[in-house]
Amino acid sequence: MKVSVKVPATTANLGPGFDCMGLALPIYNTVTIEETVLPGTGVEINVIAENQSADEFSLEHIPMDENSIIYKAVELLYNSIGQTPSELKITIHSQIPIARGLGSSASVIVGGLIAANELLGKPADEAALLSIATEVEGHPDNVTPAIVGGLTLTAGEDDGSIVYRKIDWPEEWTLTVCIPEYELATDISRSVLPKEVPMQDAVFNAQRMGMFMQAIHTKDSKLMKLALKDRLHQPYRMKLVPGLEKIAERLKHEENVLGCVLSGAGPSILIISEKNNLDKIKSIVKEVWNDLNVKAELITLPVEKQGAVVLTPDE
Ligand code: HSE
Repeated sequence: MKVSVKVPATTANLGPGFDCMGLALPIYNTVTIEETVLPGTGVEINVIAENQSADEFSLEHIPMDENSIIYKAVELLYNSIGQTPSELKITIHSQIPIARGLGSSASVIVGGLIAANELLGKPADEAALLSIATEVEGHPDNVTPAIVGGLTLTAGEDDGSIVYRKIDWPEEWTLTVCIPEYELATDISRSVLPKEVPMQDAVFNAQRMGMFMQAIHTKDSKLMKLALKDRLHQPYRMKLVPGLEKIAERLKHEENVLGCVLSGAGPSILIISEKNNLDKIKSIVKEVWNDLNVKAELITLPVEKQGAVVLTPDE
């Protein structure tokens, strides 16, 4: 038997929501798991890159053996029902750029888990899949929208369970993802974060997080402009993303720009704006990165409202 699952990319944090907020985007990885008939062949993992950015160097970030995150996720699922995965062929058709802050690792974890769950006859419900995916990824902000789509707020409980709520994203606001050609592994981007933060910075983010939700509910662009700020991770990661500070500074003066934030752990940048003047916004980003010799792809995308889907055999 063979199962394929299509999983969207995600952008996490969205400014003040470090490790607790994420949003699905219409770029996809497809994970296929096949039970092989030959005993003793073990688990084989192949990655097929379908986008230009996922070059050979990028693919090194997904180890092709049983230590990979996808194998870990599948193994945890099998273990949860007292089994061990044996002969499996896992293939990832990858369109999500790897190590760019767009949830490529969350997508393969989620795709692997859902495909394996189908193969096993669906022993795990959504809550169990969410908590296994979070255990492997380390935080719930990417895996949750990868599973359920849309913009999600997430909270982890002490017992490992994940509570989430889906929030409607106002159609009036546009998302532009700026993806530089270079990679930044999440573990490196997390290694520069402090273990503790000043109380006033924690308060700053809590204030903005509350305003973010109110701005969404009332579609209040002015309030959103105030809310799309962060003191918990972006200041520490600035040095890893050349040009971010300058891009943010220049966009601050553009009236229709609501915010310029790091996408997940970076290095991609997410710009949230009203729908006019997109060309101007893009030319500012390109100009700053051109000066630094950074090539980049800039895409304006809608929110993907649907999460991971199991494909029928002919899809
Ligand atoms: N919240 C995570 C981070 C997202 O910023 O490190 C990346 O996986």
